[in-house]
Amino acid sequence: MLKLLIVAGARPNFIKVAPLIEEIKRINKLKHLRTYQLKYCLVHTGQHYDYEMSQIFFQDLKIPKPDYNLGVGSGSHAWQTAKMMEKLEPVILKEKPDLVVVVGDVNSTLAGALVAAKLRCSQSPNHPMTKLPNNQMTHLPLIAHIEAGLRSFDMSMPEEINRHLTDHISDFLFVTEPAGVKNLLNEGIDKGKIYLVGDIMIDALIKSKVKIQKSKILEKLHLERKNYAVLTLHRPANVDDKKILSNLISAFNEIQKKIKIIYPIHPRAKKQIEKFGFKTHLKEMKNFIITSPIGYMDMIKLVSESKFLMTDSGGLQEETTFLKVPCLTLRENTERPITIEKGTNILCKRNKEKILKEVKEILSGKEKKGKIPKLWDGKTAQKILKILIKSYGKE
Ligand code: UD1
Repeated sequence: MLKLLIVAGARPNFIKVAPLIEEIKRINKLKHLRTYQLKYCLVHTGQHYDYEMSQIFFQDLKIPKPDYNLGVGSGSHAWQTAKMMEKLEPVILKEKPDLVVVVGDVNSTLAGALVAAKLRCSQSPNHPMTKLPNNQMTHLPLIAHIEAGLRSFDMSMPEEINRHLTDHISDFLFVTEPAGVKNLLNEGIDKGKIYLVGDIMIDALIKSKVKIQKSKILEKLHLERKNYAVLTLHRPANVDDKKILSNLISAFNEIQKKIKIIYPIHPRAKKQIEKFGFKTHLKEMKNFIITSPIGYMDMIKLVSESKFLMTDSGGLQEETTFLKVPCLTLRENTERPITIEKGTNILCKRNKEKILKEVKEILSGKEKKGKIPKLWDGKTAQKILKILIKSYGKE
């Protein structure tokens, strides 16, 4: 038996663990592997807790109910990460997994990896986890990081800190694109730990194709195919600074005069907009439609049928490349360079003129065309589990 303890806590995490759990279940049904089972235990840290930020993803993607919900909730980065660690440690001690699996770059990712790494340091002879009847050490979990190696080279981003630290304490680094491998090697990480396997988010998208097709979100929002744009904006660097946010809103104001913009709003952005007093101005922008956050199937349907996306999200840069929908990234950098080199992504920074210029190009039919990167084939979860099974000597 190989036992995985999977940690997830925030919206993008749920999308990444869904294909992994599905693949575990599939492997367990294979006859020739019946001699052993892959066991998993799912831990939800509670970083995201609103229905639209958490539960809807479990329903949409048929993720089993978590075995544990740590119910941590919101707080400062240090408080949130520390609280997750405190609550996760006894779970790992109780469950005794062979491997702790973390995904992406959120605070839950770092917390999961850190607890596992710190437990490995607790090799005192009296430690409940490390003591066998004959006093040998056992059950020190290894760490697997899915979506390793991505770098924005901007340490002011909380995600970049999480990426660096998680990668440097992980034993299996599963990478989505070649730049990730290069980054890890440049940082001196052992080549033997790095596996280029593709993008597990794309597994989720491919597996959900039929359900996505069935989404009625366009009808619900009275939208016409390719006659609207989608916006996601929630990064602290964009929504926590009044001047930056105001400048972006003035760009959206210009754009909505030409094409309808749909903005499923993240709770943190909503709070900031209210705090800065921008609500009335946004209401006056008649073609700028704010909705509550929406579930996975509806979001992918909405984006796939849109004329273009404007975003500061990481995952959506990849999803638009896969869907061949133009993407304007409203950030100074991206940790996913393949979406620019091969895909449909254009880095617009927070430059109003650049954003307006690129929108003009798209609206005049001169949008950037892209190709789907190699290995984004819907088989990433399969590749990951094959590597793990082999490494643990079960095949
Ligand atoms: C987190 C990730 C970010 C990811 C995003 C996806 C980190 C450091 N950041 O950012 O990389 O792109 O998730 O959504 O982990 N809130 C609610 N309800 C919720 C969750 C959050 O109201 O269910 C509000 C709270 O006011 C909270 C704020 O949103 O303080 C921020 O939430 P948090 O989990 O700290 O970070 P995100 O901005 O969601």
